[in-house]
This record gives sequence, C-alpha cells and structure tokens, in this order.
Amino acid sequence: MLHVMTANVDLALAEPSDLDAIIKVFGHRQYFAEQLADPDPQGNEVFLARRGEDFLGTVTIGPVGVDEARLRAGFPPDYARLLTHLEVPEQLRNHGIGTWIIREIEHRVAQDGFRQIVLGVDLGNAGAARLYQRLGYRSWRCGSVPTIKVHYREDGSSWSEPDRCLIFFKDL
Ligand SMILES: CC(C)(COP(=O)(O)OP(=O)(O)OC[C@H]1O[C@@H](n2cnc3c(N)ncnc32)[C@H](O)[C@@H]1OP(=O)(O)O)[C@@H](O)C(=O)NCCC(=O)NCCS
Repeated sequence: MLHVMTANVDLALAEPSDLDAIIKVFGHRQYFAEQLADPDPQGNEVFLARRGEDFLGTVTIGPVGVDEARLRAGFPPDYARLLTHLEVPEQLRNHGIGTWIIREIEHRVAQDGFRQIVLGVDLGNAGAARLYQRLGYRSWRCGSVPTIKVHYREDGSSWSEPDRCLIFFKDL
C-alpha cells in the first residue's frame, strides 16, 4: 500500500552541500558534519528521505563499530551493515515514514551484496523496538550488549562512553 506521506519521496545519499539544511531539520551538527566530511573516515553513508526540498527523515548505514568487539564477532563486516541514526522530524512521526525508510534501506543494503542489517536500540526506547520487530527484526541474544555511545558537544568536540543496547537484526 502506498502511504500518502511517502508518495513521491526519494531516499538519496546526503551530499556535503546538504549539511546546513540537514542541521536545520535534525540538529546534531557535529555528527552530520563528521559523517559528510570527504572522505568519511568511518565509511558511513547518510541517507535522506526527501520530497523536493523537504527532508522527511534520515538514516545512516555503515560498518559495525571497530570498538564493538562482540557485535563484530556476531556480524562480520563483509556480511552485515549497521543501521544507526534513524530519525523522522517529530511533527511527521507516526505516518509511516520510518517504516518506508527502513524498507527502502533494506533494498539498498541487499543490492550492495550484504545479507543482514543490525542495529542497537536504547533500553528505554520501546517505541523503536516495536517498530523494528513489526518489520521482522529479531532480538540478538538475551538482554543488552555493551556498545559505545558518542556524545557531541556544542563546540564540535565529542566524547564516548560505554553504553548498553538491545541489538536487533534481520536477514535480508
Ligand atoms: C523511530 C522513528 C524514526 C519512527 O518514525 P515514524 O515515521 O514515526 O515511524 P512509522 O510511522 O513508520 O511507525 C510508527 C512507530 O514508530 C514507533 N514510535 C513512535 N513514536 C516513537 C518515538 N518517539 N520514539 C521511537 N519510536 C517511536 C512506534 O513503534 C510506532 O508505532 P506504534 O506506536 O503504533 O506501535 C521516529 O519515531 C523517531 O524519529 N524517533 C526518535 C529517534 C529514534 O528513536 N530513532 C530510533 C533509534 S533506534
């Protein structure tokens, strides 16, 4: 079924020239500046759901973090891609855009030859966990897994701390 909110929406790679507009919609200045830097040292790709000039959502696809040893052991880099930073602007949520973005990105990742998508959900984010489960994502192992959370300061610097996430994955 084509949802009205996702008619004529395209999922495209974000360009460095999109940076200011992205920050206006989603914030996270330092994160997006880092990701869109050329060349991106982390190998992540930021996608934008866009309809004309409007941004309806964003998602990042990349390798499982080098610091996340347990995850890398379970999801080898030539087989699985990590999905992060899925976000739909607050006023547009609950209209099927997040679902559409996930389905689109699954096609792209499969077309690129990868066989799995893996992602982490914060322990308190039951809404996101429900969304992924509805779309066929399964919980990896029982309980939470150690991960690294990166925080960005206003001055552009960042710091990391150990975190715990629920890990979900889907075979494509
Ligand atoms: C998660 C998110 C991208 C979903 O986008 P969306 O366009 O609203 O998604 P859809 O309309 O396709 O699906 C709605 C479902 O999203 C989930 N959801 C709703 N509000 C949410 C919220 N504030 N945070 C997380 N998930 C939420 C729920 O599962 C909801 O369905 P249900 O409550 O009827 O079961 C959006 O809520 C968001 O940007 N949240 C903040 C960022 C975030 O939590 N990202 C996920 C990180 S793992």
